[in-house]
Parts: sequence; C-alpha cells; structure tokens
Amino acid sequence: MKTIEQINTQKEYIKKVKNENQNKNLHYSILTMGCRLNENDSEKLCGMLEQMGYTKTENFEDADICVFNTCCVRENAEDKLFGKLGELKKIKEKKGTIIAIGGCMMQEAHMVEKINKSYPYVDIIFGTHTLHKLPEDLYKVLENRKKVRDILDIDGEVYENLPIKRTSNIQANVTIMYGCNNFCSYCIVPYVRGRERSRHPKDIIEEITKLAQEGYKEVTLLGQNVNSYLRSEKWKEKGQDWNGINSFATLLRAINKIDGIERIRFVSPHPKDFTDDVIEAIRDCNKICKLIHLPLQSGSTNVLKLMNRKYTKEQYLELVQKMKKQIPNVVFTTDIIVGFAGETESDFEDTLDVVKKVKFEQVFMFIYSKRVGTPGAKMENQVPEEIKHKRFNKLKELVESQIEENNKKYIGTIQKVLVEGKSKNNPKMLTGRTESNKVVIFEGKEELKDKIIDIQIVSEHMWYLRGKVISC
Ligand code: SAH
Ligand code: SF4
Ligand code: F3S
Repeated sequence: MKTIEQINTQKEYIKKVKNENQNKNLHYSILTMGCRLNENDSEKLCGMLEQMGYTKTENFEDADICVFNTCCVRENAEDKLFGKLGELKKIKEKKGTIIAIGGCMMQEAHMVEKINKSYPYVDIIFGTHTLHKLPEDLYKVLENRKKVRDILDIDGEVYENLPIKRTSNIQANVTIMYGCNNFCSYCIVPYVRGRERSRHPKDIIEEITKLAQEGYKEVTLLGQNVNSYLRSEKWKEKGQDWNGINSFATLLRAINKIDGIERIRFVSPHPKDFTDDVIEAIRDCNKICKLIHLPLQSGSTNVLKLMNRKYTKEQYLELVQKMKKQIPNVVFTTDIIVGFAGETESDFEDTLDVVKKVKFEQVFMFIYSKRVGTPGAKMENQVPEEIKHKRFNKLKELVESQIEENNKKYIGTIQKVLVEGKSKNNPKMLTGRTESNKVVIFEGKEELKDKIIDIQIVSEHMWYLRGKVISC
C-alpha cells in the first residue's frame, strides 16, 4: 500500500475511535524522551490523540491513555521508563488506563521482550516505523481488549499529512529527513531509525509556508544528519530538482525566502558533510541563525577513528576556522562523549584542547553508554566508570568557566530576542531567546509575546542573561 493510502486508512480509524469516545471526556498524557525528532514525533502523536477525542493532561493519574515515546541513545532512559511503568500498574488496575509505548527503544528486540515478560499489562507497543498506526492499534485495543504489538524492522518510509498538535505557537519543529546511514560505532540510532530518507522539498516548503501563515516566526529543521538532505533520494540522482531544490544548501535558500519566517535553525549537521555550498547559504541567508550546532564527539583523531566519525581533530578545527572567516559573528555549540572505548588521558586532553580553541556557546556532554548491538559495545579497552566520571567533571568545569567568560561579553550589547512569554520561574518577567539561543529574562508587557524585539543585556548568570527592553 502506498504511504498516502496508509495515512488515509489511519484517518478512517481516527473517526472510528472518535465515535467510540464520544461524550466520554477522555484524557491522554504523554512522556517524551530523547531528541528533537522524538519531540516532533510526539507532536504528531498528540495530533492524532486529540483528533480521536482525547484532551491532554499533565497528570498520569488522570489519563485514560498514557503514551511513552522512548529513546535508547543512552542507558538512563530505560530506568525512567520502567519506574513509570511500575507506578502505572496500580493506576491501571483501578481505572483501566490504556498504556502505549513507542519510539526508538521499542525497536530493540530485547527491550520488547523485557516489557512482555515483566510488564505484561502494557497494551500497545509500536516502533519508529509504525507511529502513524496509533489510531488502528488503539482501535484494536478498544474493540478486543487484546494486546497489540506493532513493530516493523525495515529501512523506513516517509509519511506525510499526519495530524499535528505543536507545543509552541511561535517556534516549530520541522523534520526534513529520517534515519541515519553513518553508523558511528557508539550509536544505536541507525539501528532503530532505519536508513536515511528525505522528505520531498515540496512537502517541506508547503509545511513551512503554512506555519508562516499561522504566525510561526522560527523553524528548526530536524534530522540525524541534516546536511545529507536528499543525498540518498533516487529521483535526485537523475539530476532533477524541485523548484531549484536539490540539496540542503538549496533548501535553506528556499526557506529563507518564505515571508513571515524570521529565524531558521537546524540540528544536527555532520562535520564530514559540511560542504562549502552550505557555508555560503548560511552566510548569504539573513534568517539563518549564526549559531551552528557542530557535534564534535571527541577531540582526538584516534578516538574519532574508533568512533567511525570520518574526520580528524585538525579537519574539525579547519572547518570551524573556515566558517569563522566566512560567516561574520558565527558561534558554535557541540556534543561531546567522554570515556568512549580506547580513550586515553592524552586523547581526553585533545578534547579539552578543541573546547579551549573553539570556545563553544554550549556543550552537551555525555558519558559513554554501551549500547547493545553497536560495534562500540564490543570494543576492547573500555574506560572504567570512575575515570569516565572524573573526565566528565573536568570537562564540565572547563565548559562552565568558558560559558561564564563568554556570557560577560554579552553585557551592554543589544540582542534581537524572540519573546516566548512569561518566565516559568518568575511569572512577573518575560523570557525569550537571542539568535545564539541564550535565554534572556526581562521585564515587559505580555503583548510583546511572539515578537522579535531589541533587548540590552544588563547582567549575566550561568544559564540565562538579564536584559531591558530597548525597542518594540
Ligand atoms: N545525529 C546527531 C545526534 C545523535 S544522538 C549527531 O550525529 O550529532 C545525540 C547525541 O547523543 C550524540 O551527538 C552523542 O553525543 C550522544 N550519544 C550518542 N550515542 C551515545 C552513547 N552510546 N553514549 C553516550 N552518548 C551518546
Ligand atoms: Fe548516531 Fe552518528 Fe547517525 Fe548521529 S550521525 S545519529 S551520532 S550514527
Ligand atoms: Fe533517542 Fe531515538 Fe532521538 S534513540 S536521541 S529519540 S532518534
């Protein structure tokens, strides 16, 4: 069946479930783990659930259906899921709550086995390739009260036109490609998300044009490797394009022309695929934020080789230099893994060295976590836990001192801030973000929400800046 027909089938199931649910005042809760792609998937799950007659509740106890959208990139997510499932057992016994678990962790056979054995009261298990089938799976549970296990181990398809309920009405996630072909040796993602497949440019441009019409100002383009967008698509290999779009760079240029969109971000690019045409597009397009997330993973050429990252320490630094030269005021954030198998003290020093040289705006730091089925898990010379933690703390100290230093540079400057609304910690203040994604807290009227305004920075704190309004 074609993907369009499959989605139409699901729309029929949405109607059927909605009929079943009529006048019942039902609620759903959802717990999302993992990355922005999972967040975007959850927005689609919420869209389907709302169309089926459920209203969102933050409280698991009040929900008639609890959905977990899982991640398996590191071990800690597993403990979180099993803890929640334990809590839900009693609630389910009392009120018959339906429990559905989906996402990356459910593509791992040993995890599904564990749930079937130790948590048999879970009603629905779906994977990353069957997310769109939630309506059908749910209908089957409502009709037969039987468990549904709906997981496919395939390369994957692209499904368009799923209902969506977005978490923000100003910043939108837009997935541009699914899956990954890179097989970094520590990473589980290619095994649970399938091969790279890109959305058609027409679908992306239409989605963003509609977002702009609805008042969205910022889009973040998502993919495990955004700068290989369209690389694996057969229609493109024949030399074709769609309205001039045949690459990530040409997609960026086209999005930059969409009226109403004021900021474009993207995560994550891979350093090995950061071609000159993308650098030029970032330089030329006024809406693309000059904050580039450029995952380093390790600063040591030896470790990068073991990680199968396909670049050296020097090539990474050269790429940063090239961008700094060509793109005025460009700044960087990164991801770093500490304690990968084979990492020596001198390898770790190389990581610190790159951090000192690049001076990142933010570093997302992770302790290496062995993932079943990846080459990294079988490698010799695994680093003992206490050494991993020691190195992690040392890196954290360096990063925090750099952030503090860097934040000082903002004082007195005027920043364009996209106002998100009231600050959660202090409702008397407003909060927003600079182009470089720094949180800014300031006093102001609520009407400023959803606008981009000039703010002068008056003081700095580790995780936010304080500012005052200059113009609206
Ligand atoms: N595709 C993106 C991000 C993938 S997952 C990229 O290539 O950058 C997000 C981050 O999790 C990775 O960048 C990496 O730093 C971290 N990560 C992935 N696998 C990990 C593992 N086994 N242990 C610890 N951190 C890991
Ligand atoms: Fe994982 Fe590497 Fe793919 Fe990123 S590029 S998802 S780190 S395999
Ligand atoms: Fe996690 Fe899956 Fe994202 S494993 S990081 S939720 S792609």
